[in-house]
Amino acid sequence: MMELDPTKLPRHLAIIMDGNGRWAQQRMLPRIVGHQRGAETVQMVVDQASNLGIGHLTLFAFSSENWSRPKPEVRALMTLLKKYLRNELRRMLRNNIRFNVIGARDDLPPEINGIIDDALAQTATNSGMVLTLALSYGGRQEITRAAARIARQVAEGSLLPDQVNEELLAGALDTAGLPDPDLLIRTSGEMRISNFLLWQLAYTELYFTEINWPDFTIVELHRALADFQSRERRFGKTSAQIRLTQRS
Ligand code: FPP
Repeated sequence: MMELDPTKLPRHLAIIMDGNGRWAQQRMLPRIVGHQRGAETVQMVVDQASNLGIGHLTLFAFSSENWSRPKPEVRALMTLLKKYLRNELRRMLRNNIRFNVIGARDDLPPEINGIIDDALAQTATNSGMVLTLALSYGGRQEITRAAARIARQVAEGSLLPDQVNEELLAGALDTAGLPDPDLLIRTSGEMRISNFLLWQLAYTELYFTEINWPDFTIVELHRALADFQSRERRFGKTSAQIRLTQRS
């Protein structure tokens, strides 16, 4: 396995877990089997990220747009999510993981919201990795909700328009309090952001792999992390400036 520098891991890793459907279809299996295998990959990646000491892991589990998939697939995904959350709670408690959710939670079935509330409460004081699931999540919808929240405060008179700045907007997003992702991985060869974390990905390093999510392995994860470690992040500055700040 590739040697990783433990001091240069992403503080926040975000993943678009794509290709479950194609993985299944290539094997003449129903799409849901791909999602089931995908859920196993989720467990592996959560364990690995937490063991490596990555502080934040955010997974795109269900997008705002995924509601328009065929009803049986949406139902199957919700059933899978329920099963996953029930199983995962034990492992989160064992691994000191703090659970978190972003997205339009109101759209989720009440039963799932109940399980989520329970997982949030039971892991609230854990001090290890923060595992965030994006559920019924869309970046534009999140920014729109934040804008509406801020507009309400202005209308109520508790905020002046001039007080609206980047920090305030970031604090009104679902991700308030989370650092921006350092690395985004997307599987299955698609090279798009697909409405994921639009605000937060401004300076994130992007990593794309052809591998479908159910086939994503520990070795693939290490490959992505090693690639990240080989990059120079400049945040708009010059190479020379970055070398100077690294020396000081
Ligand atoms: C993309 O594959 C994946 C999804 C829409 C859902 C992601 C869900 C999982 C990985 C499993 C459940 C998650 C948890 C947290 C239990 P796709 O169906 O879009 O694949 P395709 O592009 O090949 O059709």
